[in-house]
Amino acid sequence: MYVCVCHAVSDKTIRKLAYEQGIKEIREIRKVTALGSSCGKCIPIAKAILQDANLNPLYKEAG
Ligand code: FES
Repeated sequence: MYVCVCHAVSDKTIRKLAYEQGIKEIREIRKVTALGSSCGKCIPIAKAILQDANLNPLYKEAG
């Protein structure tokens, strides 16, 4: 699903960046995507997804 509708950034993209690049801070996601750069409504849920991605390695194994 799209987390950032304004810039078409999905939860999969956030998880992939967390797993493959070890990203732990939302500002690092924002360096490589446009997430949050328009209305900003996506930031809270994006933070929650990133936190979950870093806390739940099972998601990584499940793909
Ligand atoms: S939904 Fe992400 S900037 Fe608007």
